Amino acid sequence: MRLDRFLSNLPRFSRKDVRLALLAGRVTVDGVTIREPLHEVREFSQVTFDGEILQMGKPARYFMLHKPPGCVSATRDPQHPTVLDLLDEPDKQDLHIAGRLDFNTSGLMLITNDGQWSRRLTQPSTKLPKVYHVETEQEIGEHYIEKFAEGFYFAFEDLTTLPAHLTILDSHHARLSIVEGRYHQVKRMFGFFDNKVVNLHRESIGPLVLDPALQPGHYRALSAEEIQHI
Ligand code: URA
Repeated sequence: MRLDRFLSNLPRFSRKDVRLALLAGRVTVDGVTIREPLHEVREFSQVTFDGEILQMGKPARYFMLHKPPGCVSATRDPQHPTVLDLLDEPDKQDLHIAGRLDFNTSGLMLITNDGQWSRRLTQPSTKLPKVYHVETEQEIGEHYIEKFAEGFYFAFEDLTTLPAHLTILDSHHARLSIVEGRYHQVKRMFGFFDNKVVNLHRESIGPLVLDPALQPGHYRALSAEEIQHI
C-alpha cells in the first residue's frame, strides 16, 4: 500500500496531516525517513511517526527445503505428508510454496510468507533457470539436445516451450535447465521421446542452489544475501 494511504487510513491523520507530516520528515519506514507519499508500505514494514511505532511490521520469512520424494507440494493434503509438515515453525498457515514439485520429485523448494518475493521468483517473465538432475528409463540420445533447445509443442496449453539446455551426463542421466515451470514440464519433455523420467531432482532456481549440507527433509532459513538475489 502507498505510504500516504496507509497513514490516512489511521483515524488520527487527515489527508492534510499526512502531507505535512511527510514533508516535515516525521515518518520513517524501516528506520529511514520517507517524504515520498507513494513509498510502498508492506505488512513487513515498520512505520513510525515522531518515533512512535504505528506498525511493527511482521517478520518476512524465507526457507530452503530439501524436498524428499513422497511428499506433496501443498500446504494441506488428506492422504500424504506435505512439505509444510517438514517445517518446525510457528504460524505455518502464513507460509506458501514458491514453485511446486511433483510428489516424487526431490530437491530445492523455497517457502516464504512474502508473496511479492515468491511472485518475482515464479512469474514467467523473470525467466529464472531451474536446473534439474534427471534419470530416465531409456537411453538419452544426442539428438535430444537440439529438440530441447528448439522447444516442445504442448497441445494442452497451445504453446511451444522456451529453449532449454540439456547436458547429457551419461546414457541415462542428464542435467536440464528450463526457464518455465509448466505442469509436469520435464516429464512431458522426455515423454516426447517416450522416455520415462524415473528420478527427478531440482538443484537450483536462478542463483539459489540447494545447500549440499541439507539432507532430504531438512531445511534452513535463507541468508540475507540469498533473499536479495531474487
Ligand atoms: N517437471 C516435472 O515434470 N516435475 C517436477 O516436479 C518439476 C518439473
